[in-house]
Amino acid sequence: MSKILIKNIKGLVQYGENLPIARIGKEMEELPILENAYLAIEDNIIVAYGSMEEWEGITDWRNVEVIDAEGKYVLPGFCDSHTHIVFAKSREEEFVDRIKGLTYEEIALKGGGILNSARRLAEKSEDDLYEEALLRVKKVMATGTAAIEIKSGYGLCVEAELKMLRVIKRLKETLPITVKATFLGAHAFPTAYKENHRGYIDLIINEMLPKIAEEKLADYIDVFCERNYFSLEEMEEILLAGKKYGLIPKVHVNQFSVMGGVAKAIELGALSVDHLEEISEEDIEAIKHSECMPTLLPSCSHFISIPFGNARRLIEAGLPIALASDFNPGTTPTGNLQVVLSLACIKMKLTPEEAINALTLNAAYAMGIHTTHGSISLGKSGNVLITHEIPSLAYIPYAFGENHVARLIT
Ligand code: NIG
Ligand code: FE
Repeated sequence: MSKILIKNIKGLVQYGENLPIARIGKEMEELPILENAYLAIEDNIIVAYGSMEEWEGITDWRNVEVIDAEGKYVLPGFCDSHTHIVFAKSREEEFVDRIKGLTYEEIALKGGGILNSARRLAEKSEDDLYEEALLRVKKVMATGTAAIEIKSGYGLCVEAELKMLRVIKRLKETLPITVKATFLGAHAFPTAYKENHRGYIDLIINEMLPKIAEEKLADYIDVFCERNYFSLEEMEEILLAGKKYGLIPKVHVNQFSVMGGVAKAIELGALSVDHLEEISEEDIEAIKHSECMPTLLPSCSHFISIPFGNARRLIEAGLPIALASDFNPGTTPTGNLQVVLSLACIKMKLTPEEAINALTLNAAYAMGIHTTHGSISLGKSGNVLITHEIPSLAYIPYAFGENHVARLIT
């Protein structure tokens, strides 16, 4: 049995029992912090916490790792509910094209973007994809990520989509953190099906989905609903087919345009609607009457110079928000959630408390793991993060560009 005791914690953040499953609207400012605290973890499960004044000491010191966290904060590990961390190659040539004036959409229309990544992925073996993704996940764990959702979507043919999902399954089986898999066959129309949408959708529904279900390769289903990608009707057909196999929708909507995808995805039972750089009053109304988590991706906005999601408008409408990295080679080449935290505070005007709620409790909800992650509560995951010695919690987003996480417990 492995036992860890963290003592003299400067602040135990997001702790408590019977916390809400997500914090919404004004509640997002609430972030419980216990000063001068201890936390005990056994076999990766939180078994006790409280104030150092009430700590009764340890009777059985065998196999206990004691960590002195004087001057340091302990937080639930961050949950990254939206990533494309399995990919074959970086795309800095597109980055340079954007510097020279092209937009993300223009680059994609020339055969760059998702299709560029699909060509690279076809050439790479499952083993190499796994090893490279593993290294990336280890890097993001070192910056505090304790649970990660990973999408397919650079395969765009039966064989390569299955290859990606098998890599994600292997990561699930080998990593010491929680992984959720999302099938994103509907990420873009491959070149051969550019004029034959029906053919590709049939491939997704009749060839990919049955195999994915048979091998239990996915938890969620995603569609990139956007102009030049999948229409509202195409998204509906694909999500309905996925639902027949028990895959819950979690979708890309409103990255560049408002097409009604938010309301449609919610009608189809989406757990989250992600991106929302563009948003309408109808979208907000639809989210209000749902249990769906709006998820914003500030590092994507930053990297490809598109508007930031209007977090304040959502919160003022009484809605929750989650934040995620969107780690992928095209629009967000980092999965460091501390970068997301800083950008959310600086560019979206979230307070540090709101942003931490959006990366813990609300992000756990957005990936369907709120019963085990997102807060420091008895029985939940012991994958907590310990910061370096820092003057305050707000120092984490304030001193951007530094890694404030000293260790993620695994
Ligand atoms: O979430 N927008 C769709 N998918 C990704 C980008 C994929 C890519 O460019 O490789 C995103 O931003
Ligand atoms: Fe994405």
